[in-house]
Amino acid sequence: MLQKNSAFAGVPGPVVVIVMDGYGIPKHAVGSAIEAARKPTLDRLFARYPNITLRAHGTAVGMPSDDDMGNSEVGHNAIGAGQVYAQGAALVANAIAEGTIWQGQAWQEVVAAAKTGALHFIGLFSDGNVHSHIDHLKAMVVQAKAEGVKTVRIHALLDGRDVPETSALDYVVPFEAFLGEISTDGFDARIASGGGRQYITMDRYDANWPMVARGWRTHVLGEGPQFANATAAVEGLRASHPGTIDQDLPEFVIAEFDENGNGKPIGTIEDGDAVVLYNFRGDRAIEITRAFVEDDFSEFDRVRHPRVTYAGMLQYDGDLQLPSRFLVPPPAIRDTSGEWFSKTGLAQFACSETQKFGHVTYFWNGNRSSRFDGETWQEVPSDVVPFEQRPWMKAAEITDAMIAALQSGQYKVLRCNYANGDMVGHTGNFRAATMAIEAVDLALGRLLKAVDKAGGVALVTADHGNADEMFELDKKTREPAVNKDGSYKAKTAHTLNPVPLILYDNVSGGRLGLKQSETAGLSNIAATVANLLGLQKHDKWDDSLLEVK
Ligand code: 3PG
Ligand code: CO
Repeated sequence: MLQKNSAFAGVPGPVVVIVMDGYGIPKHAVGSAIEAARKPTLDRLFARYPNITLRAHGTAVGMPSDDDMGNSEVGHNAIGAGQVYAQGAALVANAIAEGTIWQGQAWQEVVAAAKTGALHFIGLFSDGNVHSHIDHLKAMVVQAKAEGVKTVRIHALLDGRDVPETSALDYVVPFEAFLGEISTDGFDARIASGGGRQYITMDRYDANWPMVARGWRTHVLGEGPQFANATAAVEGLRASHPGTIDQDLPEFVIAEFDENGNGKPIGTIEDGDAVVLYNFRGDRAIEITRAFVEDDFSEFDRVRHPRVTYAGMLQYDGDLQLPSRFLVPPPAIRDTSGEWFSKTGLAQFACSETQKFGHVTYFWNGNRSSRFDGETWQEVPSDVVPFEQRPWMKAAEITDAMIAALQSGQYKVLRCNYANGDMVGHTGNFRAATMAIEAVDLALGRLLKAVDKAGGVALVTADHGNADEMFELDKKTREPAVNKDGSYKAKTAHTLNPVPLILYDNVSGGRLGLKQSETAGLSNIAATVANLLGLQKHDKWDDSLLEVK
């Protein structure tokens, strides 16, 4: 149990943490959908309530370096756990640098299987460091050759979401050149299939299984439009789908063609092969992993279920042991706020729409898919549409659910995530992102009234930036980059900007404030919530930011 805090007895009502996903503090007005949005509620909060900025990227959230942007996994882990752990990106990079990954049983089993079958790598083909890093893939290909594997096939998911929106060839061209160079002495490594990450394979939270089914047919069965190599595939698909950005490009299959032009896929996945999913982040890795490892599987018709030696880069879900074979142990996130509020007997409520539901539950609780005692989770089903067409998403419905939970009087600690700034920010559509922020602002206005009625307080914050920078920045000047024709280049990825922390408090009579410091970050939120509840923080949590006058 968390101990009582003698400095402050706690607010009378509940404490609500509101995560505005993808809402950073913009550096430039140009390109900021947040600056452009009409947002009277947020303007009032910033003007009248205690507010500070929090670090939400780089080492402050367990990324390898401060050049790494934040993301929802590491952000929600930090908020929920109140601690910073070295995250997947860092753990894998270290395991490769130190060679421990090659000594692990999982890698050895993969290599043993691949001596008779082929070794397949499936993953996000990018250096975004959010789900994967292409350098990890490269290191594994080199090591596989050194250990005597003969055939490597890569199933490349084009990114354009954690990296510039039409950058696929910046990765594919040099990588195919590297594969050509290393394919000597009987070693044969090639890209075998792929497609846009938002079109195949990388669905999350059961939002869109047909996406995963398309990925399965592409990677495993080798079904799809055929090309001679991945460079030709990207060029060909771009030509046949003008205006489609990388993340949305359709699937492709690499084939060898006979003299009649009939193509045979070079990398279908067969019994006896080994498959490594080289993404380290779990949310978008779980569904395709289930399709490979579950005997009894009914999410879609697999047509053929090859018996393979399957490994994840990490274990994506410790509760479900998914998958049981993994190359690098995941961060051991313990003593989260969810766990300790539960042990203290506080009822907790968590809500978001499907696209971010696992963020406020699974990531929040340290990548655990099961609930702690006294936790209620409510999911609002997301639309399955391109979100620039519905920038309001489910902000209204999430708000309804939160208001009902507050009115029930049942919960002492509540949390929700508004997906809009992030999900619409990722489309690169400036106008839609502006509306996304306006939708959140409208929702906040309603929710905060219910917080007042319940005698509670709210912490309004975000997990990382996105809608705050909708144009790519010039690499040198860090100013929005201007194209030759004077236009800007749309940006789909997260940002390095800090995020706000606002204390919405109408109950303490002005006794409460927030401490700004150089190091204040997302991991300080859990202790702040504890203090607002009149409790001391857990020893392992980073310090509270609450100031009591
Ligand atoms: C995604 O998976 O959508 C992006 O790679 C990262 O976005 P998120 O970290 O906000 O979920
Ligand atoms: Co995002």
